[in-house]
Amino acid sequence: MYTTEFLDIPPLAGAHGTVTLPGSKSISNRVLLLAALSRGRTVIHDLLDSDDTRVMLAALAQLGCEVTQAGSTTVTISGLGGQAPRSPARLFMGNAGTAMRPLTAALAVLGGDFELSGIARMHERPIGDLVDALRQLGCTITCTGVEGYPPLRIGQPALRLDAPVRVRGDVSSQFLTALLMALPLAGHRASMHGEAARDIVIEVVGELISKPYIEITLNLLARFGIAVRREGWQRFIIPAGSRYQSPGEIHVEADASSASYFIGLGALVAPGADGQGIRIQGVGAASIQGDIRFVEAAQAMGAHVTSGPNWLEITRGAWPLKAIDLDCNHIPDAAMTLGVMALYADGPTTLRNIASWRVKETDRIAAMAHELRKLGATVEEGADFIRVTPPATPAHWKTARIHTYDDHRVAMCFSLAAFNPAGLPVRIEDPKCVAKTFPDYFEALFALAQAAPGRIPVICVDGPSASGKGTLAGQVAERLGYHYLDSGALYRVAAHAALRSGRSLEPENEPAIADLARQLPVTFSGERVLLDGSDVTEAIRSEEGGMNASRVSTMPAVRAALVALQQGFSRLPGLVADGRDMGTVIFPSAPLKVFLTASAAQRAERRHKQLISKGISTTLDSLRADLEARDTRDSTRSVAPLKPAADALQLDNSALTIEESVETVLRWWQDRQPFGSS
Ligand code: DC
Repeated sequence: MYTTEFLDIPPLAGAHGTVTLPGSKSISNRVLLLAALSRGRTVIHDLLDSDDTRVMLAALAQLGCEVTQAGSTTVTISGLGGQAPRSPARLFMGNAGTAMRPLTAALAVLGGDFELSGIARMHERPIGDLVDALRQLGCTITCTGVEGYPPLRIGQPALRLDAPVRVRGDVSSQFLTALLMALPLAGHRASMHGEAARDIVIEVVGELISKPYIEITLNLLARFGIAVRREGWQRFIIPAGSRYQSPGEIHVEADASSASYFIGLGALVAPGADGQGIRIQGVGAASIQGDIRFVEAAQAMGAHVTSGPNWLEITRGAWPLKAIDLDCNHIPDAAMTLGVMALYADGPTTLRNIASWRVKETDRIAAMAHELRKLGATVEEGADFIRVTPPATPAHWKTARIHTYDDHRVAMCFSLAAFNPAGLPVRIEDPKCVAKTFPDYFEALFALAQAAPGRIPVICVDGPSASGKGTLAGQVAERLGYHYLDSGALYRVAAHAALRSGRSLEPENEPAIADLARQLPVTFSGERVLLDGSDVTEAIRSEEGGMNASRVSTMPAVRAALVALQQGFSRLPGLVADGRDMGTVIFPSAPLKVFLTASAAQRAERRHKQLISKGISTTLDSLRADLEARDTRDSTRSVAPLKPAADALQLDNSALTIEESVETVLRWWQDRQPFGSS
């Protein structure tokens, strides 16, 4: 997951390959709650691991369910099975509507002393229609802030089940879902109080929106033993005697809304040389999720889609895409992706019947309109529609910093703007908001996408020994979400590999060491360096490791052998490369090259501190003498001498903290970006 302040996506030119999607948020949170309410243990596979599911899991544990996790996607829940939830409990729901609504209903029916709250945005998202419906039933609920909005306090109910429960269906289908999941508990509770079992009836007032989400709910209820009868979309009947029963084991299908970004991707990009497009694994034609019908919308815009029960394959068809005019009530979440695809269409695209967008993570109509305009589109918005006219020509596209409103879907769908014909990068602010449903979304995108040729940004950092270039480069990479190449480590590993295979580092072994270096099975895993899977970090980081590296680094054949390996580190979304010839030989066209210097006295002092802290005793004078000797050797050696690239910016950090150096380099980098100051 990218936890950076922003993520700059370079202009993208193509994409192909297979993506396996995480579990559906809607199914995950429903299944978690149903398992918690059931009798028996449920093993849940392929559960989504995200902010929203963590909120639900934490709440269930607080309420006394036994929750055990095996890995991040398998969870076992021992259900309450008729027992009262642990009370009192104060439950924090974050911004997870799929946890807030159904838990409110379930707890209100079960009764106890509960408080449910969330982040500020959650307290702006209406829940009044659900509260009203629950009060009709005899539940005790108080809105402790503003009437009709969380936070809520829940007490003991005095249930009345004789009359149908009426709930509005035109604001959020989650209210009906919440009631459908809670009311089987009411029937059970009533029968425990000796009342005759009776059917419980829910009546929907107004036109029910987002019906496919209700289908998911009914489908999952059936898996947990509750066979709801429905009469049209107006009346839902929970049969007398209904009782939750665990299915034992259940698999969560992949998120169909998340699939929309990759379906969109397939619709936008020219297929690979072999005609390969995008294959999506985990969700397909047999999906119970309504957003799977996004496929039809993508087809209407021109995409070619083939599918199996749990997979989809997408290749580009019509190009430019065909503009559409579509009622999106059945695919409210995925439809946001159409808004961005509309930028690539042959005319204005209108998305209708999307009033529910206004009460989601943010006011999504306003957000989409605002951000699409930044990219150069003309956008008209109304209470329940949006019309997007794409930029008239490539020259009308604009570089944009996309604000994401703590809304995962805004962040994800706007990544598709990086395929713009103007070759502009796109900045996504606060990329970690995707954690709500798809923490590794950008990683998944970058695994499929290719940057436009020569457009992966590279920052080179070099400088004399002990100048702090490794620390600086590592931190700059972290702040930008870029990969980091410690090229010195490659020389260290090459020397280590040679010695390990019984070769000395004498000049006559140069061809053999070069052969080894050419196919160096090295991987970096955080701070650790692995050679052929075994951890060689300690060995290569020793003083001796440095000396050995220095020896092999003067062998031209070894240097040449490592060129391709080093260039291979230039991957999306970008790279910070640290080492001798990064800016001169490996990445000569890098847009920013930094040559870090510090006085020998300063460097000696820093190294001294470092060694002392490791318990190694030395003197400042000897360190300084060593460094000066090494500087001379490094800058006068014939092979790859230490010297700044002609276009490098020099940074003397003698009097700077690490943080100040990092900020300076980031500022230089920002000055070279087209985004303007933030
Ligand atoms: O940065 P370091 O101390 O890990 O580098 C180890 C040795 O390798 C050092 O002598 C410099 C040399 N080196 C090089 O010649 N070219 C590079 N790109 C990186 C390091």
